[in-house]
Amino acid sequence: MQAAEIGLIGLGVMGSNLALNIAEKGNRIAVFNRTPAATDAFMASAGELADRIVPCYSMAEFVAAIRPPRPIIIMIKAGDPVDQQITALQADLSAGDIIIDAGNANFRDTLARFKRLEGTGLTFIGMGVSGGEEGARHGPSIMVGGTEESWKRVEPVLTSIAARYDGEPCAAWLGNDGAGHFVKTIHNGIEYADMQMIAEIYGILRDGLGKSAADTGAIFANWNKGRLNSYLIEITAAVLAAKDPVTGTAMVDMILDKAGQKGTGKWSVIEAQQMGIPATAIEAAVAARSLSALKSEREAAAKVLGDERQPFVLTGGPGLVDDLELALFAAKIGAYAQGFAVMAEASREFGWNLPMPTIARIWRAGCIIRSQFLDEITKAFTANPDAANLVVTPAFATMLKQALPSLRRVVAAAFTAGLPVPALASALAYFDAYRQARGTANLIQAQRDFFGAHGFDRLDGKDLHHGPWGSGLADFANK
Ligand SMILES: NC(=O)c1ccc[n+]([C@@H]2O[C@H](COP(=O)([O-])OP(=O)(O)OC[C@H]3O[C@@H](n4cnc5c(N)ncnc54)[C@H](OP(=O)(O)O)[C@@H]3O)[C@@H](O)[C@H]2O)c1
Repeated sequence: MQAAEIGLIGLGVMGSNLALNIAEKGNRIAVFNRTPAATDAFMASAGELADRIVPCYSMAEFVAAIRPPRPIIIMIKAGDPVDQQITALQADLSAGDIIIDAGNANFRDTLARFKRLEGTGLTFIGMGVSGGEEGARHGPSIMVGGTEESWKRVEPVLTSIAARYDGEPCAAWLGNDGAGHFVKTIHNGIEYADMQMIAEIYGILRDGLGKSAADTGAIFANWNKGRLNSYLIEITAAVLAAKDPVTGTAMVDMILDKAGQKGTGKWSVIEAQQMGIPATAIEAAVAARSLSALKSEREAAAKVLGDERQPFVLTGGPGLVDDLELALFAAKIGAYAQGFAVMAEASREFGWNLPMPTIARIWRAGCIIRSQFLDEITKAFTANPDAANLVVTPAFATMLKQALPSLRRVVAAAFTAGLPVPALASALAYFDAYRQARGTANLIQAQRDFFGAHGFDRLDGKDLHHGPWGSGLADFANK
C-alpha cells in the first residue's frame, strides 16, 4: 500500500475536519484515535475522501503507514493528554520523525516538550491552528514553530490545506520552538479584544440608543462593507439578524450574558505582564469576560447600587453611526498594536526573530480575526520593519489621527451615560499615554524614593538620585 504523507492522531471536531481537509487536497493521510469507534465513525463520514485515508487501530500500524521522516499531527485535548500521547508514540517512532502538536497549547508547555525530546532524535513542532471547525475543514491559518528543516518536510501539506488570501497560503514558519503557539496565543488575545470592542459598541446601540438587534445587525452589515470589513463584523451582523426558533424574538436577546473562556486570552495577558508590555485592551477584554461570569453578583449589585443610565449623547463628529464606526476602528488599531508589541518583545526574549509582516499576512484569511485590516498591517510592517509600534507607522498614524476623535467622543459619551466600555476606554487611554512625551511617572518615582529610597534619574542628568525627604518613611516619621 502507498505510504501516507502525514499522520494525524485525534479525530475530535478539529482533528477530523483537518484530516478531511488534508485528504481533500490530494494528500494521503493515516489517522488514529484513542477510541476506535470514533475512527470508524470518521471513516463512515469521509465519503470518497476515504480512499486517501488510512484508518489505523494500533500505534505500530499507524506509524508504519507513514512515509519517513514521519510528520504526525496530534490534535487532541490540550495539556496532559498531549504528553501521554507523545510517550505512547515514542516507542514506535524513528530518528527524524516529527511530532506536531496542533492543539491550543500554552507555549511554555511547548518549550518544555522541545526540551523533553532533545537528544531523542525526534523533532517537535508546536503548531497554532486558527479558524475553528470551519477553518480546519476548508482552510485554517497555520502558525508553525520548530526547526526550519522540520517545516520544510511539512510545508507542502500545510500550505496545501491552509486558507488563501490573494492566492497566498496562510501558513508559515514563524521561528523556533514555541514561536507558533505563542503567536496563536496572541492571536487569541487580539480576538478577545476585537470581540469585546464589538460587544461594547453593540451595548451602546442597545442600551444607550435603544436599537433592536435587527437594526443593530443592519448597521454592522453596513460596516462590513467598509474599513471594518472582517469575519467578526460579518458574523456579528448575522448573529444579530438571527431569530430564536423557539420564541421568534432575536436569538441574541435570548442568550445569557455570561461569556466563557478557555485560557488563551488569559495566557496572552499573563505573558504581556511578564514581559512588561502594556496590552491594556486585551487585559480589559479578558477581565470583561470574567466580570460577565459574575451574573448573580451583578444582579445583586444592580439592586444595591442601581443601574440607572443617562442618555447616550454624541455631540459634534460625523454623525452617530459614522462616529461609532470610527471609534471601533481606532480601538481596534489599539488592540492590534498591543498584540504586535507583545510579540515583538517575546521575539527578543526568546530569540525567535518573529516576522511581523508574515504574521499579519497569514492572519488575513482562515482565522477568526481575519480581515482586510490585516493586509494594511502587513504593508505597514513591510514598509517599516523597525517601527517601535504599529501606531507610529505612517499609514496607521494617519488612520489613527482620523479616527481618534471619534473614539474620544464615544468613550466620553458612554462614560457619561453610565455604559461600560472597558476595552474601548483602555485603547483610548493607551493612545493618550503612548503619545504623551512627558508623563506623570516622575511623581511615582518621587513617591518610591520617599518611602523606599528607590532613587530616580534627573532630567538634567546630574548624578543626584534621591529627594530632600530622607531615605524612607520611617526616617521621615521620626523627624
Ligand atoms: N474547537 C476549536 O474551535 C479549536 C480551534 C483551535 C484549536 N483547538 C484545539 O484543538 C485541539 C482539539 O480540539 P477539539 O475541539 O477537536 O477536541 P477536544 O475535545 O479538545 O479533544 C478531543 C480529542 O482528544 C482525544 N483525547 C482526549 N484525551 C486524550 C488522551 N488522554 N489521549 C489521547 N487522546 C485523547 C479524544 O479522543 P477520544 O475520542 O478517545 O476521547 C478526541 O480525539 C484542542 O487543543 C483545542 O484547544 C480547537
